[in-house]
Amino acid sequence: MTTITIQQAGKHEGQEVTLKGWLYNLRESGKLLFPIFRDGTGTIQGVCSLKENPFPIQLKEHGVDFLLDNRHLWIRTPRQASILRIRAEAIRAAREYMDSQGYTLTDAPMFTPAACEGTSTLFEVNYIDDQKAYLTQSGQLYGEALAMALGKIYTFGPTFRAEKSKTRRHLTEFWMLEPEAAYVELDEAMALGEGLVTAIVQGVLKNKPRELEALKRDAKRLECVKPPFPRISYEEAVAVLNKNGNAAKFGDDFGGDEETIISSSFDRPVLVHRYPTSLKAFYMQPDPQRPELALAFDMLAPEGYGEIIGGSQRIHDYDLLVKRLHEHNLPEEAFQWYLDLRRYGSVPHSGFGLGLERTVAWICGTEHIREVIPFPRMIYRVYP
Ligand code: 4AD
Ligand code: MG
Repeated sequence: MTTITIQQAGKHEGQEVTLKGWLYNLRESGKLLFPIFRDGTGTIQGVCSLKENPFPIQLKEHGVDFLLDNRHLWIRTPRQASILRIRAEAIRAAREYMDSQGYTLTDAPMFTPAACEGTSTLFEVNYIDDQKAYLTQSGQLYGEALAMALGKIYTFGPTFRAEKSKTRRHLTEFWMLEPEAAYVELDEAMALGEGLVTAIVQGVLKNKPRELEALKRDAKRLECVKPPFPRISYEEAVAVLNKNGNAAKFGDDFGGDEETIISSSFDRPVLVHRYPTSLKAFYMQPDPQRPELALAFDMLAPEGYGEIIGGSQRIHDYDLLVKRLHEHNLPEEAFQWYLDLRRYGSVPHSGFGLGLERTVAWICGTEHIREVIPFPRMIYRVYP
């Protein structure tokens, strides 16, 4: 007998075929049983009179802690499988786009000697013979070294933040795609981010329509994600907040609530640029016209999903970078190799980090970011 997948079943009406799959749910009605099977490509219902049902996850509502404790089984449900397929497509489309733009994929280390994104979210590791090391918060600093070698590169891998906040947008382990390019300045970096996010969204729309439908995601809200994305300055964003009754003033950082207000004025992601230098990381290039502003940008997703990209032009001047390391109380010794990039052949360069899970959560329309990574790590969860 021909063996087929559930996805192909429609083409075999009236024929006897073999399906290989798991029993996913069993509904009883009188003397009949209606088993639903799944095989990784879809689900299909059968009819029989046997009685057997061992499986803990049912089609009824379960509490979220129960589901997370059983994440290894929860991923077998069609909703979770759809999300993970969309995640895979997002990665495929992102890499295809970066490759098409002439960026070379390369890798940054996970063990690092120093912080990249501030010292408050560092995971310290007891490295061999009691040396101290940290799990990487971002591959950026290594990406800069690689860009000075290869011109245009991107890294893509897990990054770690000891986030004490319990929000629907924070994981302690998440995946980041980080382009870095020599001779690229702020505007070009923003355009690259715009192209990358467009490619990801359009890739999912084209290649995963069944999965979006399974999630009941309104595709219309994604179809409009095409250039040009609106661009507003930080100061214009503060004005938008004030107009909407939020009392933000110059120098305030934006939290989730502020990001939601700003992004809800637009039907596609918005690029917010030129944040106050005081709010941002040590490596960001100041605006030559107004040094109190950094040549930085964030991309905020629509529908309240918040910041999906953070990036900037980098300081390429040696003396200014040393000054900033001191202002941020960072140990100069640990950054000697990074300072070498400014000692030898330093040129203007820029890059950004795209948070994969934030992006996929927005595309899927999930309530919480924990559903879009196979095994989420959060403040109180490292099991299973
Ligand atoms: O804005 P962030 O902190 O930027 C950097 O790490 C830069 N060094 C990147 C670069 O320029 N190469 O983080 C970048 C993105 C955020 O916009 C967000 O999408 C995601 O990473 N992100 C998180 N996602 C999930 N959980 C967390 N705790 C996250 N923290 C940041
Ligand atoms: Mg950021």
